[in-house]
Amino acid sequence: MNSPQQSTERVAAYLEVAKAAALAAGEVLQACWGKLESIVEKDRPGDLVTEADRQAEAVILEILRQNFPEHSILAEESGQFGDLNAEYLWAIDPLDGTTNYAHQYPFSAASIGLLINGVPTVGAIYDPFHRELFAGAIGIGATCNDRSICVSNVDKLAKSLLVTGFAYDRRETPDNNYQEFCYLTHITQGVRRAGAASIDLAYVACGRLDGYWERGLSPWDLAAGVAIVEAAGGTITAYDRSPFDIRSGRILATNGKLHDELSQELLYVTKIEPWSWLESRG
Ligand code: IPD
Ligand code: CA
Ligand code: CA
Repeated sequence: MNSPQQSTERVAAYLEVAKAAALAAGEVLQACWGKLESIVEKDRPGDLVTEADRQAEAVILEILRQNFPEHSILAEESGQFGDLNAEYLWAIDPLDGTTNYAHQYPFSAASIGLLINGVPTVGAIYDPFHRELFAGAIGIGATCNDRSICVSNVDKLAKSLLVTGFAYDRRETPDNNYQEFCYLTHITQGVRRAGAASIDLAYVACGRLDGYWERGLSPWDLAAGVAIVEAAGGTITAYDRSPFDIRSGRILATNGKLHDELSQELLYVTKIEPWSWLESRG
C-alpha cells in the first residue's frame, strides 16, 4: 500500500490541489487590487491585514477542506485547525507581501505549503502580478508555469545577487538584520529587499536570485518556498548550516554552491563590531 510509487502519486495530488488553491487566491488578490476598504495594523507596527488577506484565505481554506478534511491547517489570518504535529499540516499565507499590496506596489503572492510529518514537502506560490505560478514537491521537482526550474550555478558571493527581509519586530531588537544587509551589499553584486518572503524563495528556486536569508518569519511564510527550493536543487539550513527548523523563523536558502560562503559571512558579521567591516574589508 505504501510503495514509493503510490506515495509519489499522493504527493502529486497534494501538489495539484495546492496549485489550484494558490490560483484561486490569486483571483481574489486581483479582484481586490486598488479597491481596499480596510487596512488594519495587527499586533506590531507595520504588520497589516486587509480584506484581500481574509478573502483569499477563505477561498484557500474552502478548497483544502473540500479535498483533505482530515488534514490540519495553520493559516496566518484565522489560526490553527487541528494538531500542529499532525502527519499532514498545511501552512497558508493568503497574501505574502501585504505591505506591498496595501501600497499598490505589485509584488505579492499567495503561498500554500504542506508539511508531511513536519517536513515542508509540497509548495505552490502564485504571483498574480507577473502571472507566475511556482510549484514543487520533494521527489517530484519544481516548476514555474509548469516549466521545470532549477537553482543558479553562481559559486562565489562576489558574483551573486541575494535577497533578504526585515521582520516586523525590527525596531524592538538589535537582531534586526541591518548589519548583515549592509555588509552583504558591500561584498556581493547586490541584496534585494522585495517584501515577499515566498517570492524571494521562489526566485532562488528558479535561479533569478542566488541566495536568501532572513529571521523573524512564520511557518506560513516559509513552508511552500522551502519545499520548492529543495525540489529545485537548492539548500536550506539555519544560518550556521545546522538543520533547518521551520519554527525557528530563521532561514538560509541558496543554490547550494554559495551556501558555505554565505553562512560564514553571516556568522562573521554578527560577531564583529558594527561597521568595523567597512574599514577592514575596503
Ligand atoms: C512578510 C513578507 C516580508 C518579510 C516579513 C513577512 P506578510 O509577510 O514576507 O517579505 O520580510 O517578515 O512577515 O506580513 O506580508 O505576509
Ligand atoms: Ca508572509
Ligand atoms: Ca500574509
